[in-house]
Amino acid sequence: MDYSVREVDEIIGHHCDGGDGALIAILEEMQARYRYLPRDVMILVSERVGIPLSQVYSVATFYNAFSLERRGRHEICVCVGTACHVRGAQRVLTHLENKLGIKAGESTPDWNYYLETVNCLGACALGPIVVTDGQYHGQMSERKADQLLLQIEQAYQEEV
Ligand code: FES
Repeated sequence: MDYSVREVDEIIGHHCDGGDGALIAILEEMQARYRYLPRDVMILVSERVGIPLSQVYSVATFYNAFSLERRGRHEICVCVGTACHVRGAQRVLTHLENKLGIKAGESTPDWNYYLETVNCLGACALGPIVVTDGQYHGQMSERKADQLLLQIEQAYQEEV
């Protein structure tokens, strides 16, 4: 992922009021922009904000929302917690892994998709649950998962 020092400075400028939440807000915007936190970007943030790099890393590794590795453009998360598991989450996960040709925790080679699992999303009654780009989809099945992939693909085609 390419980034420029100017871009990084712009993002930091959006949160220049400082305060305790500034670092998290900066990292959130970096994550949204680049879909991960490149090491060089974290070094720049550390230098510009005047926070030790170890502290920046500490925050970046504490929150699940941050990733130190590049992720595909569209994030698909399958809940494999107990309630979702007994309702067929593993079948849905295996189906998505086969369709995308990757395992959970990986991105597709074209960087279009990133697939991951989670152990509970707190909405067990709706299981199995799949989250695509932050949107929750309940009572998931292999057929519905195919529809989700199609919707993502169609939305992407309309963007380009
Ligand atoms: S186990 Fe999936 S939402 Fe709780």
